[in-house]
Amino acid sequence: MGRILEISHEGRLMSRIVMGGWRHDLHPLLPWGHRVIVITDKTIARRYRRLINQYEHIVIGTGEKIKTLQTIEEIHRELIARGADRQTFLLGIGGGIVTDITGFVASTFMRGVRFGFVSTTLLGQVDASVGGKNGVNLDGYKNMIGCFNQPEFVLCDIEMLHSLSDRQFRAGLAELIKTGLLGNRVLFEMVEAMSFEELRRDPLLMADLILMAVKIKAGIVERDERESGERRKLNLGHTVAHAIEKSSRKMLHGEAVAVGCVVMARLSVNMGLMPEREAARIEAVFARLGFTLTSPAPIEKMIVALRKDKKAAADQIRIVLPVAIGRCEVRSVAFDWLEERLREVMK
Ligand code: GLY
Repeated sequence: MGRILEISHEGRLMSRIVMGGWRHDLHPLLPWGHRVIVITDKTIARRYRRLINQYEHIVIGTGEKIKTLQTIEEIHRELIARGADRQTFLLGIGGGIVTDITGFVASTFMRGVRFGFVSTTLLGQVDASVGGKNGVNLDGYKNMIGCFNQPEFVLCDIEMLHSLSDRQFRAGLAELIKTGLLGNRVLFEMVEAMSFEELRRDPLLMADLILMAVKIKAGIVERDERESGERRKLNLGHTVAHAIEKSSRKMLHGEAVAVGCVVMARLSVNMGLMPEREAARIEAVFARLGFTLTSPAPIEKMIVALRKDKKAAADQIRIVLPVAIGRCEVRSVAFDWLEERLREVMK
């Protein structure tokens, strides 16, 4: 079995993150003697026929548009039609959308069945599939309906990253950089020292970087699974990213996170919390890896979306500000104040 990282809480094992490959590592992770039903999307079902056809499977569509309560209901119906019961193990194989959906279905079907993931995208391996957040969007508002519930395992298959497009791979790099930026300067500097091509071509290096990011995330999740404090830091760049995603369909989630991180770095400088040179480095690493750093959505539309953010309460909103590379702070600020500052730093 590949390298394993455990997420525990008060001595109880919640989840195991395994860096490995499906051919050797999946079978031993599955519970012996249980019926396994795979939930995957049509791209993965086509690309990994040999893997998917080993199990009963339910295939869903692709893209953010599929992350709805309607999809959840359709899968529930399909599970009932197939005679699934409380002993059935659900295995999500795919990127963050598939794993968010599988986790939510598993947490609600018959009040909860066991589940695990094979994470097939960089974004999923670094962030979305790890940490037990499951859910769907509602009326375009991201992850509005969901629950915390840890998968028994997340198998991060490095080989599968080869089949990602450059664009999907780059989008995953944004979450990797975000994690370094909020919690580990060395991780940030390792990515900073590499070109896009070097990262793309070197699976062993990527495995090390992913493991570093997962360690940071696992530590935070162990200390604050339900996001009542420290876990909020993992939302660095996401307030702006979700506003972009709500206002425009032009960016992938990771691409919008890159814009969000740069905007938050500029805001920190504007507030006197971080030296200009640190923000310049943050902007430079994203630019060098080929990210577009301007929002495709007009600021007016983004402001409307911001006001409906999950992290908002009354006229306040919580934002995450990098104060140095490798360190960030969570602050609650007034909407009106944020709106004014965003207009300054995003022009
Ligand atoms: N993606 C942020 C978190 O898992 O908390």
